[in-house]
Amino acid sequence: MQVVVTGGLGFIGSNLVSRLLQLGHDVRVLDNFSTGHERNLESDVGHSRLTIDRVDLTDAALTVRAVGSADIVYHLAANADVRDGWKHPRKDHEQNVVATHNVLEAMRVNSVPRIVFSSTGSVYGATAVVPTPEDAPFPTQTSLYGASKLAAEGLIQAYVEGGVISATIFRFVSILGPRYSHGHVVDFVRQLLENPKQLHVLGDGTQTKSYLHVADCIDALVMHLTPSQKLAIFNLGVDATITVRDSIGWITSEMGVSPELQFAGGSQGWIGDNPLIHLDITAMRATRWQPRHTIRDSVVETTRWILANQWVLERTK
Ligand SMILES: NC(=O)c1ccc[n+]([C@@H]2O[C@H](COP(=O)([O-])OP(=O)(O)OC[C@H]3O[C@@H](n4cnc5c(N)ncnc54)[C@H](O)[C@@H]3O)[C@@H](O)[C@H]2O)c1
Repeated sequence: MQVVVTGGLGFIGSNLVSRLLQLGHDVRVLDNFSTGHERNLESDVGHSRLTIDRVDLTDAALTVRAVGSADIVYHLAANADVRDGWKHPRKDHEQNVVATHNVLEAMRVNSVPRIVFSSTGSVYGATAVVPTPEDAPFPTQTSLYGASKLAAEGLIQAYVEGGVISATIFRFVSILGPRYSHGHVVDFVRQLLENPKQLHVLGDGTQTKSYLHVADCIDALVMHLTPSQKLAIFNLGVDATITVRDSIGWITSEMGVSPELQFAGGSQGWIGDNPLIHLDITAMRATRWQPRHTIRDSVVETTRWILANQWVLERTK
């Protein structure tokens, strides 16, 4: 198949590109190189079935030309950083809403029939239903990131209802694993390399979350190369949760350090942080998909990968 992957130089996108090439597909990456890096694809660059185009998807005309003809678009390009929304309040709208609309229009103009979209558990905001199923009520948005992803989901649904495309929307928990570049594990490893005696922790350490290994995430994404329904929405996560303190214990033991922990305090790590994220994955489990990694394995493997690839710390300073 001819597959376009937006954000294919990023953490999840590059893992997807590698898998699609292994599966024998032709892959075209569209990326503006903002948080993504060719180094993520160093084992695949030069592959005869891979092309990488530098394109900013906030430019509508460029996006129409760049998407061109394809069987499917995996739309992963986004501002994926939920924490810093209020530092640049237009960014989530531009990168996640406007860019998604441009991709959808490019698909309509080029008659590309199918999209798979990376949404987030953050769209559930301050939901009262935990574990949270796909049809839980979620009336309150708590972050600009979550709000922008929900708006993008809405646009995709409208294009599906308009008969333009079929779509699978995945709402991920936080993803861990090789090529990881943003989130608490990278923050903690960076701090501990600089000063193994002290670790500053956002919140009070009791924030409770679920994490999924990127290989399990990619397993699910590639299952949806062909449509099962006109529109499908699935949570992606694991059945377990951990606290920030659990994660600190695994990271510090992997690094062989015993820092003094300094908690910023409060139940949230940042404005809009949901102190409890646990998605109900019954719907995905009812398909052939099963997560294969525990959260502990994912945290440990991510720590090892960062330690072995410290260029990622330089790049994300
Ligand atoms: N990492 C997670 O834990 C997680 C959780 C839930 C959802 N997601 C979603 O998964 C997707 C991938 O996330 P990631 O962690 O790999 O992030 P990432 O930052 O590593 O990758 C995003 C990629 O998109 C590119 N990009 C950003 N804006 C662009 C634009 N305007 N035009 C072209 N390219 C652009 C970046 O250069 C980068 O390569 C995102 O949509 C994110 O919101 C990620």
